[in-house]
Order: sequence, then structure tokens, then C-alpha cells
Amino acid sequence: MTQMSMYNILEKKKHNKVLSKEEIKWVIDSLMEKKIEDYQVAALLMAIYLNGMTKEETAHLTDAMLYSGKTLSFDGLNVVDKHSTGGIGDKTSLILAPIAAVCGVKVPMIAGRGLGFTGGTVDKMEAIPGFKTDLDLKEFESRLNEKGIVLIGQTGEIAPADKIIYALRDVTATIDSIPLITASIMSKKLAEGANGIVMDIKVGSGAFMRTKSEAKKLARSIINTASRFDKKCVTLLTNMNQPLGEAVGHTLEVIECIEVLKGRGPKDLSSLSIELAAHMIHIAGVEKTYAAALKKARKSVKDGSALKKFEELISDQEGDSQVTKNYDLMDLAPERSYIVAPKDGYIKSFKNADIGFMCTELGGGRKVKSDKIDFGVGFIFHKRLSDKIKKGDKIATIYHRKDQGKIVEDIQHRMLNDIIKFSSTKLSKPEIVYEILKN
Ligand code: URA
Repeated sequence: MTQMSMYNILEKKKHNKVLSKEEIKWVIDSLMEKKIEDYQVAALLMAIYLNGMTKEETAHLTDAMLYSGKTLSFDGLNVVDKHSTGGIGDKTSLILAPIAAVCGVKVPMIAGRGLGFTGGTVDKMEAIPGFKTDLDLKEFESRLNEKGIVLIGQTGEIAPADKIIYALRDVTATIDSIPLITASIMSKKLAEGANGIVMDIKVGSGAFMRTKSEAKKLARSIINTASRFDKKCVTLLTNMNQPLGEAVGHTLEVIECIEVLKGRGPKDLSSLSIELAAHMIHIAGVEKTYAAALKKARKSVKDGSALKKFEELISDQEGDSQVTKNYDLMDLAPERSYIVAPKDGYIKSFKNADIGFMCTELGGGRKVKSDKIDFGVGFIFHKRLSDKIKKGDKIATIYHRKDQGKIVEDIQHRMLNDIIKFSSTKLSKPEIVYEILKN
């Protein structure tokens, strides 16, 4: 075999030729050993973005990234994780993890931080005073075995190649590539030892996948990769044309999740979280049918056991579990301003990603990696897609700091003139789950 070189591999992918398993592994190994330069990897990412990858190449890339770090294995255990491609107000993990765990699933969450316009589960959990997300893999493993639930941030030990590649994708406009997303997600999920994966693939104006057909391609790619690794996988294509639930912003979202676990909270958030948990319970083999799993998940909310499990998770990871009883223990910005309906009508659409960017403007997201998040700022949307509005109605409340008058004015202007669109005619209620695909 001729000596491998990054130049030859780039030539090949540039001309849309299929890379071999050995070539892909060579790239990832060389990246980890710093034998190739970031700009060469960035060029390859763009060639992959433009020319795509076959199913085999995607599986080989997943494999190479998966073995770039440590791998865990929980053979014989009901270890099932859920992953979302990210959205606005997408907080289901905080609800479904304790539901699934209390119903008998082992839930090993290695969750992400906010990225671009999307929020991250790890940042949300850190709005709970004291909650620790930086456990090492040994602790992660032992807590999963003992407690059945653990939630940590991305660690350098699991799929470290993804961390490097992700950072390069973030700055080279190569995030929304189906093979790259598939390998990124699946390398992490397979390395953490999940035997089954429930994927929430978000579609719409607040998601990386803007159309159902793109989302379906991603779903098929993820299912195909899961099957090759002999893992069960269910993907739900879900609506991200408006924030999920009413809250956007860290403390506000944690409060909303606790409300759902108390049997209250917005219906879209509650029903999607319970459905996702039910799929986890079903593919874990705890219940034979999805209907029985759904019943079990609902019961755990009704009888308070899921909320109790959430409190346990918080205190096990050194957080203050009293937050479920006293929301004032979390930081919430004291000032309130409002987005007010300019006329009678109906809410037609949201430029949902921009709502995420507006939250970042308030400090509730990062513009650069080193930014510190203000957990207390954000929005509550009182009116949602298709809702009837009367002139003067509050569409949303903005939670902000005293010195943010100028930013708030700008947000109010942009929300009413660009982000929210109105209709004078009645509209139908949006669907929450568009389609379910599985292997
Ligand atoms: N989430 C990930 O972990 N990776 C991607 O590429 C996109 C979403």
C-alpha cells in the first residue's frame, strides 16, 4: 500500500471518491497525534460537507472517532440515552432523565453546552446552585451503576476527536452536514456505553435541520449507524418552529421542568418529554409495549416519583435539591419588560433561532467560548403559534437586569418587526411530533 498522506486524502475527497476505512482511521489518529494540521482537517470537513459520505464512510468515521478516547460498556444493563440535535427552550432531558430512571432505565447523560443559538442541558443544570457536572469517568460509571442516573458535561476522555472536529466545524460553516452530525453524535453515544439511543431530531426555524426531508435523511443516517453497531435506535422528528414550552433562559427553564415534573407546566413540553422517556423505557426492555411504557412514564409524574428522582440526582451531584420547593434559591433577573401585541390577530410564525440569539444578547448564552452565562435572564412566551391575540396582550415577558434598557428596547423592536409574524386569519395548532423512525 502507498504511504498515506493528508494531501492525497484531500485530493480524493475533493473529487468525491470514497475514502477507505484505513484512510479515515489514519486521519483521526493523525489528528489526535497532532501529525496533521487543523487547516488540513478543516479542508477535509468542507470536502465532506460538499460531497457527503457513503453509509460505510459515515460508519468508519464514527468508529474512528469513537475509539479516539475511552469507551465504556454496560452489557446486559438497560442503558439507554437520549440526544437532541438542539433547539430553543429544548429542556426535555431534565424531565425525561428522572422519569426514565425511576422507571428502571439506566440513564448515562453526557450532555452538551449551548452552541450557536441553541441552549445546552449542562448549562441549564448548572443554574441549580452547587450542581456539579464535571465528574470523571470513574465516578460517572459508579453513579450510573448505583443510582441509575448521572448527568455530566462533555469530557476529554470520551470521543476527544469530536471535541476537536466540532470546534473546527463551528468556525468553518460545516456544522449542518449529515455524515458529520451522525459521526459526532454517535461516536459519543456509543463510547458512553449506551445500548439504545432515543434521538430527538429538531426540525424548523430554531433547528440545524430546517426541513423535514433533511431531518429524515439525518434520522436514517443515525439509525443506519446505530444498526451497524448493533444498537437500538428510535428517532423522533419534532417541531422546532417555536420554543419548546414557554420558557427560554436557564433558571426559567429549570423552573418549567420542575413544574412539568409536578404534573403542571406547558402541554407541548410535558407530552414530548413523557413520549421520549416512554421510548427509552420501551427500548430498554423494561416494558414490552410502547403503550405500557407510556403509562408507566405518566404514572411516575402523577405519583411524584419522577420529581423525587430529580431531587435525588441534584443532591447526588452536590446541588441544592430544595430548589424544587423554593424557586427563589435560583438566580432570576429581577426586572420585567414585555412584548405587547400591536394588533388583533393570531401568531403565525417565529424566527425561532433569533429568539435564541436574543437570549444571548441578554447574557443568557455565549458569544465566545469563555463567556460566563447569566442564568437569570430570558423569556416567557405567553402566546404561542396559532394563538389568538388582542391588541395590548402580553406575548412575552423579558427577564433582564437593570442596566439592560437599550438591549431590551432593541429586542422589543426586533421581536415585533422581524421575529414574530402575525396573521389576521385563524390558524391550525402545530403538530409536536411529525414522524417516528426506528430500526
Ligand atoms: N450535536 C452533536 O453532538 N453534534 C453535532 O454535530 C450536532 C448536534
